Amino acid sequence: MVTCWYHGYTYGLNDGELKTILAAPEDPLIGNASIKTYPVVEKYSIIWVFVGDADYAPIPPLESDLPPQESKDYAYYSPNLTDDDAIVLGIRRKGESNWRLAVENGFDPGHVLIHWKSPLVYAHDLAVPLGFKPTSDEAVKAFEDADGPKGMMNMYPPDADGHSNYEPIFENAMLGVRASGGTPTLGIRTSMWLPGVLKVENFPFPGITAHEMYVPIDDKSYEYWELLVKTAPTEAERERFTDQYENYLRDAVFHDFNDDDLWARDSMQPFYEHDVGFAEEKLCAMDAVIVAWRKLVARHARGIQTPPMELGIKRRR
Ligand SMILES: [Fe+2]
Repeated sequence: MVTCWYHGYTYGLNDGELKTILAAPEDPLIGNASIKTYPVVEKYSIIWVFVGDADYAPIPPLESDLPPQESKDYAYYSPNLTDDDAIVLGIRRKGESNWRLAVENGFDPGHVLIHWKSPLVYAHDLAVPLGFKPTSDEAVKAFEDADGPKGMMNMYPPDADGHSNYEPIFENAMLGVRASGGTPTLGIRTSMWLPGVLKVENFPFPGITAHEMYVPIDDKSYEYWELLVKTAPTEAERERFTDQYENYLRDAVFHDFNDDDLWARDSMQPFYEHDVGFAEEKLCAMDAVIVAWRKLVARHARGIQTPPMELGIKRRR
């Protein structure tokens, strides 16, 4: 049970029913009031909450809402969140935009240029291009197996035969702009999975996977989760990665690099508010994956939730 510190209302954690009131144990309200509860599962170092509709049934398995496990045989294997020996470290904060803008920003091939002056890029001389141009229909891959996770992947790494489906753009001659950095990051691959889970393989370095999750609070804000995943079978390796995370990666990846994304999404909110932006936006070839994602969502979304009532304000009809 959980008891409110203010008036002592005490609710059951399993069913949300009012079990007692601390200072009024005989009150007739007891047993006649309840609060909403959510299904919860603790797995992969995280407590997951199913925030779908209250009457949604059956509750889908957690794994159907997470990126599928990549085989360790894959040439550019990057740790899976679901690996037995994975260590998962991260933060949560709030973004001030519609969560859909956050999702689309996460794997947008045309926004990479906002990161090119990031300290992370300088520290490691990373070859971060200005953007990525799709050069074949294979550049974007959809995952739609009936029982599996639904997602959309940017096929940045070359195929097994060496053929590339995306061309990194490093220069704009008219503007005299060239991306800095020299070391290509092998195996970077981004993918987005319903209901809004980003996977960035081999980022910031080979052997680390970055995840982001965007959970709508309402239509103008979302919970922004940022995670780094690494395979660390021994205690010494876990300690070493934790040390590297706490003293460097947390600031360099989340607060320098990802701050630029957070700022970009917040900046787009006024344009897209009231859905005007979705009518006025101008898409180009780099947005192929964004358009494909929107179609995928239209095919597989579990429904559209109404926004929560604002406290103290009656919902407009
Ligand atoms: Fe970004």
